[in-house]
Amino acid sequence: MKILITAGPTREPLDPVRYLTNRSSGKMGYALAHAAAHDGHQVLLISGPTDLDVPDGVDFIPVETAAEMFEAVQDSLSRMDAAIFAAAVADYRPATAAEQKIKKSGETLTLELVRNPDILGSCRSHFGFTGTLVGFAAETEHLAAHARTKLEKKGCDLVVANDVSQPGIGFDSDRNAVLLVFPDRIESLPEDDKHQLAHRIIQEIEKIPRD
Ligand code: C5P
Repeated sequence: MKILITAGPTREPLDPVRYLTNRSSGKMGYALAHAAAHDGHQVLLISGPTDLDVPDGVDFIPVETAAEMFEAVQDSLSRMDAAIFAAAVADYRPATAAEQKIKKSGETLTLELVRNPDILGSCRSHFGFTGTLVGFAAETEHLAAHARTKLEKKGCDLVVANDVSQPGIGFDSDRNAVLLVFPDRIESLPEDDKHQLAHRIIQEIEKIPRD
């Protein structure tokens, strides 16, 4: 299969020296890219800034902002059989990025933020993508219920849900534990190394019937 994978955080600039971001390390997305390439798939990794090396044999498009990630996905999606959205995309960005460094002035500073496009949420509705669609859900409570809502709203074939409130797994960790939420069933993958989990997730994606 040709598989697109998004990974890492996004960076939303405030001015030339500052940005808003999140704690995503990109490890889960890169592990998925590695596992998929190892299984013989042709992989395109679209990633925000991380410290990780791009796995061998994987095509790579580096991006910074959610808007850049949106464009890169839009440009490549029609060629793909499957798409896995593991990036932690910023939901909001500063309404304007100042051209010059913002100087200290008052005691408080109010930032105005505007919504970023929902890349995964645009796949079925805007891009007309008919391939296998996989989302991720990072939740702190009601894991299965939130993941199921996401699955239905965004038209996914699978949502991989992880509980980011549990210490030692998930964000910025080498380990994770996930729930695989399919339209008709839920499977729990217990805590493991992200590379082992990535192999299991790719195997499950390979089993999803395609048109
Ligand atoms: O709705 P929520 O942001 O929690 O959904 C998470 C899923 O949606 C992840 O798969 C993430 O990569 C994707 N996403 C996206 N574009 C956004 C926000 C989230 O592709 N702007």
